[in-house]
Amino acid sequence: MKFSRAALGALGASLFASAVGAVGLNLDDPESIKKAAKTIAAGMRKYYTGDKPGDVPGNLPQPYYWWEAGAMFNAFIDYWYYTGDDQYNAITAQAMQHQIGDYNAFMPPNQTKTLGNDDQAFWGMAAMSAAENKFPDPAEGQPSWLSLAQAVFNTQAPRWDDSTCGGGLRWQIFTFNNGYNYKNTISNGCFFNIAARLAKYTGNTTYSDWAEKMWKWTGDVGLMSKDYHFFDGSDDTINCTQVNHIQWTYNAGVFMAGAAAMWNISESEEWKARLTGIINATDIFFSKDAANVMFEVACEQNGKCDVDQRSFKAYLSRWMGHTVKVAPWTRELIMPRLKASAEAAAKQCNAGDDQSQCGLKWTQNGQNDGSFGVGEQMAALEVIQSQLLDQVAGPVGEKSGGTSKGNPSAGSQSEDKPISFNSITTGDKAGAGFLTTLVLVGILGGAWWMVS
Ligand SMILES: *[C@@H]1O[C@H](CO)[C@@H](O)[C@H](O)[C@H]1NC(C)=O
Ligand SMILES: *[C@@H]1O[C@H](CO)[C@@H](O)[C@H](O)[C@H]1NC(C)=O
Ligand SMILES: *[C@@H]1O[C@H](CO)[C@@H](O)[C@H](O)[C@H]1NC(C)=O
Ligand SMILES: *[C@@H]1O[C@H](CO)[C@@H](O)[C@H](O)[C@H]1NC(C)=O
Ligand SMILES: *[C@@H]1O[C@H](CO)[C@@H](O)[C@H](O)[C@H]1NC(C)=O
Repeated sequence: MKFSRAALGALGASLFASAVGAVGLNLDDPESIKKAAKTIAAGMRKYYTGDKPGDVPGNLPQPYYWWEAGAMFNAFIDYWYYTGDDQYNAITAQAMQHQIGDYNAFMPPNQTKTLGNDDQAFWGMAAMSAAENKFPDPAEGQPSWLSLAQAVFNTQAPRWDDSTCGGGLRWQIFTFNNGYNYKNTISNGCFFNIAARLAKYTGNTTYSDWAEKMWKWTGDVGLMSKDYHFFDGSDDTINCTQVNHIQWTYNAGVFMAGAAAMWNISESEEWKARLTGIINATDIFFSKDAANVMFEVACEQNGKCDVDQRSFKAYLSRWMGHTVKVAPWTRELIMPRLKASAEAAAKQCNAGDDQSQCGLKWTQNGQNDGSFGVGEQMAALEVIQSQLLDQVAGPVGEKSGGTSKGNPSAGSQSEDKPISFNSITTGDKAGAGFLTTLVLVGILGGAWWMVS
């Protein structure tokens, strides 16, 4: 019996698939990494409907909240940056522009009833990535990527609240929303991240001063421990005297990238020690059994990660890659973990109708756990495409190739113009850290590492 070349190729491919997953990944070959990223990005794009007639650009369908859509477009911006494949640039630009909202600061009235600082910031960080990666600039007359990130910063800085807990940002922006009393780490971490990256991009020390201030507060109030573990948040009705000690990958990630930017600007021993400490403390998110493979320690083993949390590994992965570019000496600390995680993630992107959907758990030696969604897909995409970091230039700044024009006063009109509201209700509550508030009560008496 004779095989045609095509049949042989197919046979080879299927043998390969059963051995290392349908996506296939050879980390020594950039083309293989790009191919894997392309397959997984296509799987993520399938969830997006906002570009369909009658739908709203920028929105994901239920059950995905608005913030995760912002996070997803950041992943598409990264995808283009790492692979050069621009097939998602148009939907990304359309979505980002449609969601600009009030003050050109990602505060669309449709989101007001649940708008958290973290929700807004995930879109702001996407704009920051667009500026740093030289994502094609919007048409003349449209707010630039950089100015959008500045506007998020300028709307959030005045929300710094000294009335309780010695400072910090609240989770929710508006007093009438549930969660207004919660000062959560991700909201404060996102602000730190944006401030530090704006400082690096623009050289304006106003931003780095704010990053320093936020860093100090996070430690003082106990949301970051002395050995650089980041906890979920605290309740300001008790003046933050107790802390919800749950730990999430995304909090470590968002602070890691900000600290890397602060080191890059200062090249100081102080920021070097801090960044080293943050990286070291991410230990708890890497499996011992499946050596160096990332997992969400609070909820993955017990199967309790919610829709939001299933995306968190995307952000730690994203910001670990970013950190290697910005603080190159972190390579030896970060790459072994990122590599092992990328390999393990790809290995289990082998299920679903196209035999290439990714699950949540990367630690099961290629066994897909059947949990599918935007978060699972995004996490695998970010960890795999980060393996292309040697193929790309690092994030640019104003004096190092950046083309996005800044506007230091973007968004600052929010202080004198009233916010527009759209069907305000405090009934349905949803945001980047929603579950975090629910678990607060349970956690004070429970195990810190697990969602109970
Ligand atoms: C707000 O909601 C309306 C009605 O669904 C929609 O037409 C509009 O595009 C939305 N705007 C944004 C910025 O999402
Ligand atoms: C609340 O905590 C801050 C520091 O975290 C402290 O400075 C302040 O005095 C406390 N306020 C009250 C009323 O205890
Ligand atoms: C690394 O983390 C461990 C556990 O948190 C801690 O005991 C150790 O001191 C840390 N080492 C460095 C260099 O930060
Ligand atoms: C700072 O970051 C840029 C990339 O944004 C990188 O090219 C540069 O080498 C970094 N600086 C140092 C001192 O490592
Ligand atoms: C630096 O940033 C601050 C805060 O946005 C702004 O008020 C100030 O004008 C900026 N300075 C320069 C020189 O751009």
